[in-house]
Amino acid sequence: MSDTQGDTRRETAGLLEIQGLKTQFRTRRGVVPAVDDVSVSVGRGEVVGIVGESGCGKSVTSLSLLGLVTHPGKVVGGSALFDGVDLLTLDNKGIRAIRGRDISMIFQEPMTSLNPVYTVGQQVSECLRSHASGVSRKAARASVEEMFEMVGIPEPRARLDAWPHQLSGGLRQRVMIAMALICKPKLLIADEPTTALDVTIEAQILALMKDLRRDTGTAIMLISHNLGVIAETCDRVYVMYAGRVMEEAEVFELFDSPTHPYTRGLLASMPRIGGERGPRKPLYSIRGNVPDMQQLPKGCRFAPRCDFAMARCVESEPPLLDASHATGNPGGKPHLSRCWLAEASGAGGQQ
Ligand SMILES: Nc1ncnc2c1ncn2[C@@H]1O[C@H](COP(=O)(O)OP(=O)(O)O)[C@@H](O)[C@H]1O
Ligand SMILES: [Mg+2]
Repeated sequence: MSDTQGDTRRETAGLLEIQGLKTQFRTRRGVVPAVDDVSVSVGRGEVVGIVGESGCGKSVTSLSLLGLVTHPGKVVGGSALFDGVDLLTLDNKGIRAIRGRDISMIFQEPMTSLNPVYTVGQQVSECLRSHASGVSRKAARASVEEMFEMVGIPEPRARLDAWPHQLSGGLRQRVMIAMALICKPKLLIADEPTTALDVTIEAQILALMKDLRRDTGTAIMLISHNLGVIAETCDRVYVMYAGRVMEEAEVFELFDSPTHPYTRGLLASMPRIGGERGPRKPLYSIRGNVPDMQQLPKGCRFAPRCDFAMARCVESEPPLLDASHATGNPGGKPHLSRCWLAEASGAGGQQ
Protein backbone atom coordinates (compact mmCIF):
# COMPACT_ATOMS: atom_id res chain seq x y z
CA MET A 1 0.00 0.00 0.00
CA SER A 2 1.28 3.48 -0.78
CA ASP A 3 2.58 5.95 1.76
CA THR A 4 -0.23 8.39 1.12
CA GLN A 5 -2.58 5.96 2.82
CA GLY A 6 -0.59 6.07 6.02
CA ASP A 7 -2.90 8.63 7.57
CA THR A 8 -5.99 6.51 7.18
CA ARG A 9 -4.36 3.42 8.65
CA ARG A 10 -5.83 2.45 11.97
CA GLU A 11 -5.36 -0.45 14.32
CA THR A 12 -7.67 -3.39 13.70
CA ALA A 13 -7.82 -6.78 15.27
CA GLY A 14 -9.04 -8.51 12.15
CA LEU A 15 -8.06 -8.36 8.52
CA LEU A 16 -11.30 -6.77 7.37
CA GLU A 17 -13.68 -4.80 9.57
CA ILE A 18 -16.80 -3.59 7.80
CA GLN A 19 -18.76 -1.22 10.03
CA GLY A 20 -22.22 0.14 9.27
CA LEU A 21 -21.96 -0.26 5.51
CA LYS A 22 -24.81 1.38 3.60
CA THR A 23 -25.22 1.09 -0.15
CA GLN A 24 -28.25 2.44 -1.99
CA PHE A 25 -29.60 2.37 -5.51
CA ARG A 26 -31.35 5.56 -6.54
CA THR A 27 -33.88 4.40 -9.08
CA ARG A 28 -36.76 6.24 -10.75
CA ARG A 29 -39.13 4.53 -8.33
CA GLY A 30 -37.16 5.66 -5.30
CA VAL A 31 -34.24 4.67 -3.11
CA VAL A 32 -33.40 0.97 -2.66
CA PRO A 33 -31.40 0.48 0.57
CA ALA A 34 -29.74 -2.71 -0.75
CA VAL A 35 -27.19 -2.86 2.08
CA ASP A 36 -28.39 -1.15 5.21
CA ASP A 37 -26.01 -0.78 8.14
CA VAL A 38 -24.10 -4.03 7.69
CA SER A 39 -21.11 -4.88 9.90
CA VAL A 40 -18.97 -7.89 9.06
CA SER A 41 -15.51 -8.81 10.21
CA VAL A 42 -13.04 -11.30 8.79
CA GLY A 43 -10.01 -12.37 10.77
CA ARG A 44 -6.68 -13.31 9.21
CA GLY A 45 -6.99 -16.76 7.69
CA GLU A 46 -10.63 -16.99 8.70
CA VAL A 47 -13.37 -18.34 6.41
CA VAL A 48 -16.50 -16.26 6.87
CA GLY A 49 -19.81 -17.03 5.22
CA ILE A 50 -22.53 -14.63 4.17
CA VAL A 51 -25.80 -16.42 3.52
CA GLY A 52 -29.34 -15.38 2.67
CA GLU A 53 -31.98 -15.64 -0.02
CA SER A 54 -31.40 -14.04 -3.40
CA GLY A 55 -31.69 -10.25 -3.40
CA CYS A 56 -30.80 -9.71 0.26
CA GLY A 57 -27.64 -7.68 -0.46
CA LYS A 58 -24.83 -10.22 -0.33
CA SER A 59 -23.23 -9.33 -3.66
CA VAL A 60 -23.72 -5.60 -3.20
CA THR A 61 -21.89 -5.89 0.14
CA SER A 62 -18.81 -7.37 -1.53
CA LEU A 63 -18.95 -5.07 -4.56
CA SER A 64 -19.15 -2.07 -2.23
CA LEU A 65 -15.84 -3.01 -0.64
CA LEU A 66 -14.04 -3.03 -3.94
CA GLY A 67 -15.45 0.09 -5.52
CA LEU A 68 -17.42 -2.00 -8.01
CA VAL A 69 -20.95 -0.75 -7.35
CA THR A 70 -22.13 0.91 -10.54
CA HIS A 71 -24.63 3.70 -11.17
CA PRO A 72 -27.33 4.15 -9.91
CA GLY A 73 -25.78 2.44 -6.88
CA LYS A 74 -23.68 4.31 -4.35
CA VAL A 75 -21.98 3.57 -1.05
CA VAL A 76 -23.50 6.18 1.26
CA GLY A 77 -22.16 5.23 4.67
CA GLY A 78 -19.91 3.10 6.81
CA SER A 79 -16.28 2.08 6.75
CA ALA A 80 -14.37 -0.98 5.65
CA LEU A 81 -10.95 -1.22 7.25
CA PHE A 82 -8.72 -3.64 5.40
CA ASP A 83 -5.37 -4.04 7.09
CA GLY A 84 -6.12 -0.72 8.76
CA VAL A 85 -6.97 1.19 5.56
CA ASP A 86 -10.55 2.27 4.89
CA LEU A 87 -11.31 0.87 1.44
CA LEU A 88 -14.32 3.14 1.12
CA THR A 89 -12.14 6.27 1.18
CA LEU A 90 -9.73 5.16 -1.55
CA ASP A 91 -9.84 6.67 -5.03
CA ASN A 92 -10.00 4.50 -8.16
CA LYS A 93 -6.28 4.13 -8.38
CA GLY A 94 -5.97 3.17 -4.72
CA ILE A 95 -8.67 0.53 -4.83
CA ARG A 96 -7.38 -0.89 -8.13
CA ALA A 97 -4.00 -1.43 -6.51
CA ILE A 98 -5.63 -3.53 -3.80
CA ARG A 99 -8.08 -5.38 -6.03
CA GLY A 100 -6.54 -8.49 -7.51
CA ARG A 101 -3.44 -8.18 -5.36
CA ASP A 102 -4.44 -8.02 -1.69
CA ILE A 103 -8.09 -8.88 -2.30
CA SER A 104 -9.19 -11.21 -5.10
CA MET A 105 -12.63 -12.23 -6.20
CA ILE A 106 -14.29 -15.15 -7.90
CA PHE A 107 -17.84 -15.15 -9.16
CA GLN A 108 -20.56 -17.60 -10.06
CA GLU A 109 -20.09 -17.77 -13.81
CA PRO A 110 -16.47 -18.40 -14.70
CA MET A 111 -17.09 -18.19 -18.46
CA THR A 112 -18.11 -14.54 -18.37
CA SER A 113 -15.03 -13.63 -16.32
CA LEU A 114 -12.60 -15.26 -18.75
CA ASN A 115 -11.65 -13.60 -22.00
CA PRO A 116 -12.43 -15.97 -24.91
CA VAL A 117 -9.61 -14.66 -27.12
CA TYR A 118 -6.72 -15.49 -24.79
CA THR A 119 -5.58 -18.88 -23.52
CA VAL A 120 -6.20 -19.46 -19.83
CA GLY A 121 -2.44 -19.57 -19.23
CA GLN A 122 -1.99 -16.13 -20.83
CA GLN A 123 -4.79 -14.67 -18.72
CA VAL A 124 -3.56 -15.93 -15.38
CA SER A 125 0.00 -15.01 -16.30
CA GLU A 126 -1.06 -11.49 -17.32
CA CYS A 127 -2.86 -11.11 -14.02
CA LEU A 128 0.34 -11.97 -12.14
CA ARG A 129 2.52 -9.69 -14.28
CA SER A 130 0.18 -6.73 -13.94
CA HIS A 131 0.40 -6.89 -10.15
CA ALA A 132 3.99 -8.00 -9.66
CA SER A 133 6.44 -5.91 -11.64
CA GLY A 134 9.56 -7.43 -13.08
CA VAL A 135 8.27 -10.98 -13.50
CA SER A 136 9.39 -12.34 -16.86
CA ARG A 137 6.96 -14.16 -19.15
CA LYS A 138 8.83 -17.38 -18.59
CA ALA A 139 8.80 -17.07 -14.80
CA ALA A 140 5.11 -16.14 -14.86
CA ARG A 141 4.31 -19.20 -16.95
CA ALA A 142 6.12 -21.41 -14.47
CA SER A 143 4.20 -19.84 -11.55
CA VAL A 144 0.91 -20.31 -13.35
CA GLU A 145 1.68 -23.95 -14.01
CA GLU A 146 2.46 -24.43 -10.34
CA MET A 147 -0.77 -22.69 -9.36
CA PHE A 148 -2.80 -24.81 -11.82
CA GLU A 149 -1.33 -27.87 -10.16
CA MET A 150 -2.19 -26.52 -6.72
CA VAL A 151 -5.84 -25.95 -7.63
CA GLY A 152 -6.11 -29.46 -8.99
CA ILE A 153 -6.08 -28.86 -12.74
CA PRO A 154 -4.94 -32.13 -14.33
CA GLU A 155 -2.07 -31.87 -16.84
CA PRO A 156 -1.38 -28.29 -15.85
CA ARG A 157 1.33 -27.64 -18.43
CA ALA A 158 -0.87 -28.66 -21.35
CA ARG A 159 -3.83 -26.75 -19.93
CA LEU A 160 -1.87 -23.47 -19.97
CA ASP A 161 -2.49 -23.30 -23.70
CA ALA A 162 -6.18 -24.20 -23.54
CA TRP A 163 -8.87 -21.71 -24.54
CA PRO A 164 -11.65 -21.05 -22.04
CA HIS A 165 -14.27 -22.79 -24.20
CA GLN A 166 -12.21 -25.98 -24.23
CA LEU A 167 -12.58 -26.42 -20.47
CA SER A 168 -15.49 -27.76 -18.41
CA GLY A 169 -17.29 -25.46 -15.95
CA GLY A 170 -15.43 -27.03 -13.04
CA LEU A 171 -12.05 -26.52 -14.69
CA ARG A 172 -12.90 -22.95 -15.64
CA GLN A 173 -13.75 -22.23 -12.01
CA ARG A 174 -10.41 -23.74 -10.99
CA VAL A 175 -8.71 -21.43 -13.48
CA MET A 176 -10.56 -18.50 -11.89
CA ILE A 177 -9.41 -19.61 -8.45
CA ALA A 178 -5.85 -19.92 -9.77
CA MET A 179 -6.13 -16.38 -11.16
CA ALA A 180 -7.53 -15.13 -7.86
CA LEU A 181 -4.71 -16.73 -5.89
CA ILE A 182 -1.72 -16.13 -8.15
CA CYS A 183 -0.89 -12.83 -6.40
CA LYS A 184 -1.23 -14.45 -2.96
CA PRO A 185 -4.06 -12.23 -1.73
CA LYS A 186 -4.77 -11.77 1.96
CA LEU A 187 -8.49 -12.08 1.26
CA LEU A 188 -10.42 -14.05 -1.32
CA ILE A 189 -14.02 -13.04 -1.88
CA ALA A 190 -15.96 -15.90 -3.47
CA ASP A 191 -19.48 -14.93 -4.54
CA GLU A 192 -21.57 -18.05 -5.24
CA PRO A 193 -18.45 -19.78 -6.59
CA THR A 194 -20.11 -23.17 -6.99
CA THR A 195 -23.69 -22.23 -7.81
CA ALA A 196 -23.25 -22.96 -11.54
CA LEU A 197 -21.53 -26.30 -10.92
CA ASP A 198 -22.90 -29.77 -10.29
CA VAL A 199 -22.72 -31.13 -6.74
CA THR A 200 -19.68 -33.36 -7.24
CA ILE A 201 -17.62 -30.50 -8.66
CA GLU A 202 -19.06 -28.20 -5.99
CA ALA A 203 -17.76 -30.49 -3.25
CA GLN A 204 -14.32 -30.55 -4.91
CA ILE A 205 -14.13 -26.76 -5.19
CA LEU A 206 -15.20 -26.28 -1.56
CA ALA A 207 -12.58 -28.82 -0.43
CA LEU A 208 -10.05 -26.92 -2.50
CA MET A 209 -10.90 -23.65 -0.77
CA LYS A 210 -10.47 -25.26 2.64
CA ASP A 211 -7.09 -26.68 1.57
CA LEU A 212 -6.02 -23.28 0.29
CA ARG A 213 -6.82 -21.62 3.54
CA ARG A 214 -4.83 -24.27 5.36
CA ASP A 215 -1.86 -24.10 2.99
CA THR A 216 -1.69 -20.37 2.24
CA GLY A 217 -3.47 -18.71 5.18
CA THR A 218 -5.70 -16.73 2.79
CA ALA A 219 -8.85 -15.48 4.49
CA ILE A 220 -12.04 -16.18 2.58
CA MET A 221 -15.37 -14.40 2.47
CA LEU A 222 -17.73 -16.98 1.00
CA ILE A 223 -21.07 -15.71 -0.26
CA SER A 224 -23.83 -18.23 -0.91
CA HIS A 225 -27.60 -18.62 -0.85
CA ASN A 226 -26.96 -22.23 0.14
CA LEU A 227 -26.51 -22.98 3.84
CA GLY A 228 -25.11 -26.40 2.99
CA VAL A 229 -22.18 -24.77 1.19
CA ILE A 230 -21.61 -22.48 4.16
CA ALA A 231 -21.78 -25.33 6.68
CA GLU A 232 -19.22 -27.24 4.71
CA THR A 233 -16.64 -24.48 4.51
CA CYS A 234 -16.95 -21.62 7.01
CA ASP A 235 -15.76 -20.83 10.53
CA ARG A 236 -18.28 -18.06 11.12
CA VAL A 237 -21.50 -17.04 9.42
CA TYR A 238 -23.54 -13.90 8.86
CA VAL A 239 -27.15 -14.42 7.86
CA MET A 240 -28.48 -11.55 5.75
CA TYR A 241 -32.06 -10.58 5.02
CA ALA A 242 -33.41 -7.52 3.19
CA GLY A 243 -30.14 -5.60 3.44
CA ARG A 244 -29.53 -6.38 7.11
CA VAL A 245 -27.49 -8.87 9.14
CA MET A 246 -30.07 -10.93 11.06
CA GLU A 247 -27.78 -13.37 12.85
CA GLU A 248 -24.08 -13.82 13.36
CA ALA A 249 -22.44 -16.85 14.96
CA GLU A 250 -19.76 -19.47 14.71
CA VAL A 251 -20.82 -22.11 12.25
CA PHE A 252 -21.43 -24.97 14.70
CA GLU A 253 -23.34 -22.71 17.02
CA LEU A 254 -25.48 -21.40 14.17
CA PHE A 255 -26.39 -24.89 13.06
CA ASP A 256 -26.85 -26.29 16.59
CA SER A 257 -28.62 -23.32 18.13
CA PRO A 258 -30.02 -20.93 15.56
CA THR A 259 -31.92 -18.18 17.34
CA HIS A 260 -33.39 -16.09 14.55
CA PRO A 261 -36.59 -17.49 13.02
CA TYR A 262 -35.23 -16.58 9.57
CA THR A 263 -32.12 -18.70 10.17
CA ARG A 264 -34.31 -21.51 11.47
CA GLY A 265 -36.42 -21.26 8.34
CA LEU A 266 -33.34 -21.43 6.11
CA LEU A 267 -32.10 -24.45 8.04
CA ALA A 268 -35.45 -26.21 7.82
CA SER A 269 -35.55 -25.65 4.07
CA MET A 270 -32.09 -27.13 3.55
CA PRO A 271 -32.14 -30.45 1.71
CA ARG A 272 -30.65 -33.18 3.87
CA ILE A 273 -30.05 -36.39 1.98
CA GLY A 274 -30.71 -39.31 4.27
CA GLY A 275 -31.29 -36.90 7.14
CA GLU A 276 -33.88 -37.36 9.85
CA ARG A 277 -36.65 -36.09 7.61
CA GLY A 278 -35.64 -38.47 4.82
CA PRO A 279 -35.21 -37.54 1.22
CA ARG A 280 -38.82 -38.01 0.15
CA LYS A 281 -40.65 -35.70 2.48
CA PRO A 282 -41.29 -32.29 0.90
CA LEU A 283 -38.98 -29.56 2.11
CA TYR A 284 -40.12 -26.79 4.34
CA SER A 285 -40.14 -23.40 2.72
CA ILE A 286 -40.43 -20.04 4.44
CA ARG A 287 -43.87 -18.63 3.65
CA GLY A 288 -44.24 -15.40 1.70
CA ASN A 289 -41.59 -13.55 -0.26
CA VAL A 290 -38.67 -11.24 0.41
CA PRO A 291 -40.03 -7.73 0.94
CA ASP A 292 -40.08 -4.98 -1.64
CA MET A 293 -36.92 -3.06 -0.72
CA GLN A 294 -38.69 0.23 -1.37
CA GLN A 295 -41.54 -0.59 0.99
CA LEU A 296 -39.88 -2.15 3.95
CA PRO A 297 -41.97 -2.91 7.00
CA LYS A 298 -41.59 -0.50 9.90
CA GLY A 299 -40.62 -3.13 12.45
CA CYS A 300 -38.59 -6.27 11.89
CA ARG A 301 -38.08 -6.82 8.18
CA PHE A 302 -38.81 -10.51 8.59
CA ALA A 303 -41.95 -10.08 10.72
CA PRO A 304 -44.44 -10.45 7.82
CA ARG A 305 -43.07 -13.97 7.17
CA CYS A 306 -42.31 -14.95 10.75
CA ASP A 307 -44.30 -17.62 12.62
CA PHE A 308 -43.22 -16.11 15.95
CA ALA A 309 -43.98 -12.45 15.26
CA MET A 310 -45.39 -10.52 18.22
CA ALA A 311 -47.04 -7.08 18.29
CA ARG A 312 -43.68 -5.58 19.21
CA CYS A 313 -42.00 -7.03 16.12
CA VAL A 314 -44.38 -5.17 13.83
CA GLU A 315 -43.86 -1.93 15.77
CA SER A 316 -40.12 -1.69 16.17
CA GLU A 317 -37.09 -3.28 14.61
CA PRO A 318 -34.80 -5.10 17.02
CA PRO A 319 -31.08 -4.29 17.12
CA LEU A 320 -28.54 -7.11 16.97
CA LEU A 321 -28.93 -8.66 20.43
CA ASP A 322 -26.52 -10.88 22.28
CA ALA A 323 -27.90 -14.40 21.88
CA SER A 324 -25.04 -16.36 23.39
CA HIS A 325 -26.88 -16.82 26.68
CA ALA A 326 -29.86 -18.31 24.89
CA THR A 327 -27.65 -20.98 23.39
CA GLY A 328 -25.57 -21.90 26.39
CA ASN A 329 -22.38 -20.55 24.86
CA PRO A 330 -21.58 -17.35 26.70
CA GLY A 331 -17.97 -16.28 26.41
CA GLY A 332 -17.46 -17.75 22.94
CA LYS A 333 -17.24 -15.67 19.77
CA PRO A 334 -20.21 -13.32 19.44
CA HIS A 335 -23.58 -14.82 18.74
CA LEU A 336 -25.89 -11.99 17.75
CA SER A 337 -29.49 -12.11 16.64
CA ARG A 338 -31.70 -9.32 15.34
CA CYS A 339 -34.75 -10.75 17.08
CA TRP A 340 -36.70 -9.69 20.16
CA LEU A 341 -36.81 -13.35 21.16
CA ALA A 342 -33.09 -13.15 21.90
CA GLU A 343 -33.82 -10.36 24.37
CA ALA A 344 -36.56 -12.41 26.02
CA SER A 345 -33.86 -14.84 27.06
CA GLY A 346 -32.43 -12.19 29.34
CA ALA A 347 -29.36 -11.18 27.35
CA GLY A 348 -28.09 -7.64 26.93
CA GLY A 349 -28.14 -5.76 23.64
CA GLN A 350 -25.42 -4.71 21.20
CA GLN A 351 -25.36 -1.93 18.61
N1 LIG B 1 -28.69 -2.11 -10.57
C1 LIG B 1 -29.58 -2.11 -9.56
N2 LIG B 1 -30.61 -1.25 -9.53
C2 LIG B 1 -31.49 -1.23 -8.51
N3 LIG B 1 -31.44 -2.07 -7.46
C3 LIG B 1 -30.45 -2.97 -7.44
C4 LIG B 1 -29.46 -3.05 -8.48
N4 LIG B 1 -28.60 -4.05 -8.17
C5 LIG B 1 -29.03 -4.56 -6.98
N5 LIG B 1 -30.14 -3.91 -6.56
C6 LIG B 1 -30.86 -4.14 -5.30
O1 LIG B 1 -29.97 -4.65 -4.37
C7 LIG B 1 -30.54 -5.78 -3.72
C8 LIG B 1 -29.44 -6.70 -3.33
O2 LIG B 1 -28.85 -7.27 -4.48
P1 LIG B 1 -27.68 -8.34 -4.38
O3 LIG B 1 -26.64 -7.88 -3.44
O4 LIG B 1 -27.25 -8.63 -5.77
O5 LIG B 1 -28.41 -9.61 -3.75
P2 LIG B 1 -27.83 -11.07 -3.47
O6 LIG B 1 -26.41 -11.10 -3.92
O7 LIG B 1 -28.00 -11.28 -2.01
O8 LIG B 1 -28.70 -12.00 -4.25
C9 LIG B 1 -31.52 -6.35 -4.71
O9 LIG B 1 -32.61 -6.93 -4.06
C10 LIG B 1 -31.99 -5.13 -5.46
O10 LIG B 1 -33.12 -4.59 -4.78
MG1 LIG C 1 -25.53 -12.27 -5.42
